[in-house]
Amino acid sequence: MLQPTPPSEETIDEHQENHAEERQQSYHLHSINSTIAIRQLPSQGLSFQLWPAASTLVSLLDNHRGRQTTALSSLLPTERRLRLLELGSGTGLVGIAAAALLGARVTLTDLPHVLPNLQFNANANAGILELHGGEIEVAALPWGDVQQMEVVGRDQYDVIVGSDVVYHDHLYEPLLETLRFFLLGNEKKSVFLMAHLKRWKKESAFFKKAKKLFDVEIIHSDSPIDGSRVGVAVYKFVRRGGDK
Ligand SMILES: C[S@@+](CC[C@H](N)C(=O)[O-])C[C@H]1O[C@@H](n2cnc3c(N)ncnc32)[C@H](O)[C@@H]1O
Repeated sequence: MLQPTPPSEETIDEHQENHAEERQQSYHLHSINSTIAIRQLPSQGLSFQLWPAASTLVSLLDNHRGRQTTALSSLLPTERRLRLLELGSGTGLVGIAAAALLGARVTLTDLPHVLPNLQFNANANAGILELHGGEIEVAALPWGDVQQMEVVGRDQYDVIVGSDVVYHDHLYEPLLETLRFFLLGNEKKSVFLMAHLKRWKKESAFFKKAKKLFDVEIIHSDSPIDGSRVGVAVYKFVRRGGDK
């Protein structure tokens, strides 16, 4: 059974409100001196909780915004407004932070029952998004659902992001199908940035399959978190032979 590991980053302050049903977390983005508010609903399941890989990806984006050159510099063009797609957004922290940090237009996606909380969190941060030129839309995107993938649109995205999306093995194939659609189905050289905390040996099957389709590279690794031998890693997936 997959259990979320409570985020350990200092930047997360989860003491503002702590009801059994609802938890408000604030996440400070240092580079733009702004704080994002995220509502979690832990009793409603894993899609309504913040997972540790999310904060790693947000920190990476925050550092990128605050510095001249980072591992992300060559992946995030600055000459135009970026278009991002997030897969399995959960509470939406990564996509909302990315919209604010990069002034990007971001589509947050997840299974249909997750969307009301995603929209709630997008609305809760509307002021910060407006201030920094970010824009959010929310859409259903069950992995492997070609009709919904077409609705979300394959041609538009510079960057696709996902955090903690590799866990149940029955989801490996639908997730890979989704990545195939968005990374290989168009002329655009899109990149997938995935933050992942390795939990089980079986996950190597996902990476083995992924490497047959994409060039996969680790661009950032965190130190191991408490009680674990590994830390969160951020992977870059591009079309094989792609030059991103
Ligand atoms: C472990 S949670 C991670 C959530 C969030 N990305 C984070 O890091 O906090 C995995 C997410 O994938 C979503 N998910 C699971 N199966 C999915 C599917 N078949 N299609 C789309 N999203 C799915 C879940 O609803 C959940 O939000």
